[in-house]
Amino acid sequence: MNVLLLGNGGREHAIAWKLKQSKKLTKLYIAPGNPGTAQCGENVDISVSEIDKLVEFAKEKKIELMVAGPEAPLADGVVDAFEATDIKAFGPCEAAARLEADKAFAKQLMRSCAISTAEGRVFDRFEDAKAFIASRDEAVVIKAAGLAAGKGVFVCDDPSDGILAAEKIMCDKEFGEAGNQVVVEDKLLGEEASILAFVDGRNIYVMESSQDHKPVGEGDTGPNTGGMGAYSPAPVVTDKLMDQINREILVPIVDGMNRQGTPYKGILYAGIMVTAAGPRVLEFNVRFGDPETQPILMRLKSDLLEVMLAVCDERLDEITLKWDPRPAVCVVMSSGGYPGSYEKGKIITGLDDANAMEDVFVFQAGTKQEDGNIVTNGGRVLGVTAVGKNVAKAQKLAYEAVGKISFEGSYYRGDIADKALKKK
Ligand code: AMP
Ligand code: GLY
Repeated sequence: MNVLLLGNGGREHAIAWKLKQSKKLTKLYIAPGNPGTAQCGENVDISVSEIDKLVEFAKEKKIELMVAGPEAPLADGVVDAFEATDIKAFGPCEAAARLEADKAFAKQLMRSCAISTAEGRVFDRFEDAKAFIASRDEAVVIKAAGLAAGKGVFVCDDPSDGILAAEKIMCDKEFGEAGNQVVVEDKLLGEEASILAFVDGRNIYVMESSQDHKPVGEGDTGPNTGGMGAYSPAPVVTDKLMDQINREILVPIVDGMNRQGTPYKGILYAGIMVTAAGPRVLEFNVRFGDPETQPILMRLKSDLLEVMLAVCDERLDEITLKWDPRPAVCVVMSSGGYPGSYEKGKIITGLDDANAMEDVFVFQAGTKQEDGNIVTNGGRVLGVTAVGKNVAKAQKLAYEAVGKISFEGSYYRGDIADKALKKK
């Protein structure tokens, strides 16, 4: 079967790497891809926003399944466009992708489904948001309601910083139209976990848990990024907690989507804060997490393509997933300056040495091929991922591999997976 994968990040390299292992795969195309995905299939120079071109390409190459990696094309209706031409598409339709693309919608749906989340209010005028924030004397979280590549959320311990954040989002339009509305919510305390599940409209199959590291700085300090590292499983998610998340969050939201006439298919990602009072939803995403996918797929033993087809055909109940019991740790190497401004085009060395290590794989994200070299081309550059007998061993191996790689100005957090170690 010919498959077209959309995207060019570390997540897509991980998906491409896993799809390539499928016996069902004939040819994999990745649009637009990166030098990492080029090792798993053929990169195609079409951007994920050029939906008509993607459909034309798919018809020409007899694609039987399209897999959307990132959220933006899903929110733009790429699944609807492919299904209209009878090509199977993995991911939610445009209406269901609102669960991520419109945080105000998600908040309202959670409320109507009695799903626990932070108390919050939605504002579409800056003056109203400002007055509300100013009336509070505790920490607030300010979120652009639309898509902002993981950077539109500001956790502000002081409400005056919250007002500045709302101003950035609504007046300065730092995230464009995504900032037409803001959600102002209470700050939740606890440890975070990412829960990803395959959903076929009715059936839910929860994957192994994972944990992201959103802030740029060690000890979870500084501004939020797309994610600076991840590990799987997350010991904070006990079996009992996973049952509770399934029962009180995943089942009700999938039911809620059905009730409102937009059945949910694809990956459902619940960002959870494990508070003293139980799990609370921070956000829903409508696709695989980046970088959570890198350690999760390193551990998945089953055929990803088969699972994706089962989702499309609404027969997820026939599938059983097998996992490597060993934990995996992914350390993101980024360009210095990210999530602010940074330079590109720095030559990366040591990739082959790191990849030659047993139980290590380097997923590429913001990279490109230039004059025979792999050079940096984005904020998050690499996801250096390792599996080990226990978290400490996986972590040690991942950092050993990081030590073999260099590029000018590279930055990484030195404490990825420390939280898991503290749990032991
Ligand atoms: P989101 O994209 O909504 O998940 O937010 C990005 C990150 O901001 C989350 O992973 C958390 O680290 C943090 N965050 C979001 N909402 C809250 C909240 N209500 N309380 C505390 N932290 C939050
Ligand atoms: N790692 C967070 C996300 O994918 O949204």
